[in-house]
Amino acid sequence: MKQLQRRTLVTALAAAPVALMLPGGAFAQKPIVLGFSQIGAESEWRTANSESIKSSAKEAGIELKFADAQQKQENQIKAIRSFIAQKVDVIAFSPVVESGWGAVLREAKAAKIPVILTDRAVNEKDESLWVSFMGSDFVEEGRKAGRWLVEKMKDQKGEVNIVELQGTVGSAPAIDRKKGFEEIIKADPKFKIIRSQTGDFTRAKGKEVMEAFLKAEGKKINVLYAHNDDMAIGAIQAIEEAGMKPAKDIVIISIDAVKGAFEAMIAGKLNVSVECSPLLGPQLMQAVKDLKAGKTLPRRIVTEEGIFPMETAAAEFPKRKY
Ligand code: AHR
Repeated sequence: MKQLQRRTLVTALAAAPVALMLPGGAFAQKPIVLGFSQIGAESEWRTANSESIKSSAKEAGIELKFADAQQKQENQIKAIRSFIAQKVDVIAFSPVVESGWGAVLREAKAAKIPVILTDRAVNEKDESLWVSFMGSDFVEEGRKAGRWLVEKMKDQKGEVNIVELQGTVGSAPAIDRKKGFEEIIKADPKFKIIRSQTGDFTRAKGKEVMEAFLKAEGKKINVLYAHNDDMAIGAIQAIEEAGMKPAKDIVIISIDAVKGAFEAMIAGKLNVSVECSPLLGPQLMQAVKDLKAGKTLPRRIVTEEGIFPMETAAAEFPKRKY
């Protein structure tokens, strides 16, 4: 009988190399290890995204190695290399910019560690370097912003002068949100982007650049299109300090739909925010589990999103999760 028990134990160990013996003699599965390289903490969106990833990993029982790159691509590359050296099971990251990832992604592939892109895409020809990309359709977000503006200004006869606060230079959301917006407004020549500059997705930079726009163009500005809410919130401050009324003297459109944007809309200072959900954690953890179970992930997982004009803000606010 004793011998039979021992044999059963040996068979179980051989069949499940990931099993670990707990102090009490029971067995537990070795957790899946996920290395995640985050861009930084530039916005309310990013903070919510990091929180979603951390809490979902905990809930899913996945061991998370989380590295904050403080907005620097070189730090993200270092983090990915360190995940490879630690032989994690899966690597996921949100690329700060689109280009320059080929070498490190080839290293991960050579080490047979699957890579999942979250939130932002990379610009690499060899698509076998990552197994899936989950996140928003940024071009569509830009189009939604454009469509809202075209409808809002449909009866306006004269020129509509727009200033644009772009996101981080070279990042997918900055490139795509500009593209989608321009694609829509170009149908009517009355829409003109008179100034466009990066505010790096931060409140401080959004305010600073808006101050410069106001100095250069003053009352000529009819519309502000900000690639995220944080920059719009910074710009609102600049507009008020210049003695103008945000959302009245200047129509303001932004993207993300974070709580701060809802507060600004309820206060009557922001006209509309296009939704971009940072709550990617649960989807990512499911994808990591599926990968480890040998399943093939869809190449692209698109987040479904809406648009919130200020008139809807008070009713929507209690339902917001970020
Ligand atoms: O990649 C998503 C963008 O990055 C968000 O719109 C912005 O707020 C963030 O910093």
